[in-house]
Amino acid sequence: MKQDLKCAIIERRVLSSGQVELILDNPRLADEAKPGQFVHIAVENGKNLLRRPISICDAENGRTRIIFEIKGEGTKWLAERGVGDTLTLMGPLGRGFDLDAGGRAFIIGGGIGVFPLYMLTKRLKEPKIFLGFRNKDMVVMEDEFAALGKTLVATDDGSYGAKGFAIDLAEREISDCGVIYACGPKPMLKAVKAMAERHGVRAQLSMEERMGCGIGACLVCVCKTTTGNRQVCLQGPVFDAKEIIFD
Ligand SMILES: Cc1cc2nc3c(=O)[nH]c(=O)nc-3n(C[C@H](O)[C@H](O)[C@H](O)COP(=O)(O)OP(=O)(O)OC[C@H]3O[C@@H](n4cnc5c(N)ncnc54)[C@H](O)[C@@H]3O)c2cc1C
Ligand code: FES
Repeated sequence: MKQDLKCAIIERRVLSSGQVELILDNPRLADEAKPGQFVHIAVENGKNLLRRPISICDAENGRTRIIFEIKGEGTKWLAERGVGDTLTLMGPLGRGFDLDAGGRAFIIGGGIGVFPLYMLTKRLKEPKIFLGFRNKDMVVMEDEFAALGKTLVATDDGSYGAKGFAIDLAEREISDCGVIYACGPKPMLKAVKAMAERHGVRAQLSMEERMGCGIGACLVCVCKTTTGNRQVCLQGPVFDAKEIIFD
C-alpha cells in the first residue's frame, strides 16, 4: 500500500495555454519517479471528491513538476493552490514507459498528453517529436521538446505549424521509426495503434481513464485488452498498443 506524501508547492506558474504548472518539493517522490508514472492528489475542498490523477512531467533534484488543465472542481481547487501550500498525494504510481524498446523513438503527444512524455523524451537518444494541439493558443512546451530532438507541431485548425494531426506528420517519416511512445486523446491513440500495425512498429500508449482509488482496489479505471480488463492505475497507464482493444 502506497503511503501519502506531503509535498510543498515551491513554484507555481500559469502557462500561456491557461494550464497550471506546479513544482513540488519531495525528494522521495522525485527520486522514485519514472517516465510515464503519475501522482494521485487529494482534493481537500471539504466535498469528499475522489483524488485526481496527474502525470509526472519531470522530476529531478528533489523537485517534481506537474502541469494540468482546469477541467472541473478537482483541478480548479488544485489551480487555486499557491507557493507554500502543501499537497497530499500518493505516488509515483503506475507502470511507466519501457525505455529499452529499441530503435529510433517517435514521440507522439496530443494536448495534455504531451506532459507525461517530457521526462521520457529527456532520456531518449535522438528522438523525433510530433506534437498536436487544438490551436495556436494551446501549444505548450514546444521549445522544451525542441531542445531534446527534432520537433514538429500540428494544430487542428492550422493556426500554428502544420494543419491536421501530429500522427500524420509522424507517418510521413515512419521509415525512420523503431518505436512509438504516445499519449493523448483516445481517438489519437487508436490511430497510433493502427499506424503502428500498418508499419510493423512497436508502440507504447499511455491510457487515461477516470480513476477512483489509483492503486488497483476499485476497478473504476479498467480498459479492455487482449488479456481481459486491466487496471490503468496499476497495470498501466502505459500499455503495449498490441494489447489495447479500442471500441
Ligand atoms: C493517469 C492519468 C494522468 C493524467 N495526467 C494529466 C496531466 O498531466 N495533466 C492534466 O491536465 N490532466 C491529466 N489527467 C486528467 C485529469 O486527471 C482530469 O482532468 C481530472 O481528474 C479532472 O478532474 P476535475 O475534478 O477537475 O474534473 P471532473 O469534474 O472530474 O471532470 C471534468 C470533465 O473532464 C472529464 N474527465 C475527467 N477525468 C477524465 C479522464 N481521466 N479521462 C477523460 N475525461 C476525463 C469528465 O468526464 C468531465 O467531462 C490525467 C488522467 C489520468 C488518468
Ligand atoms: S482506480 Fe481503482 S483500480 Fe484503478
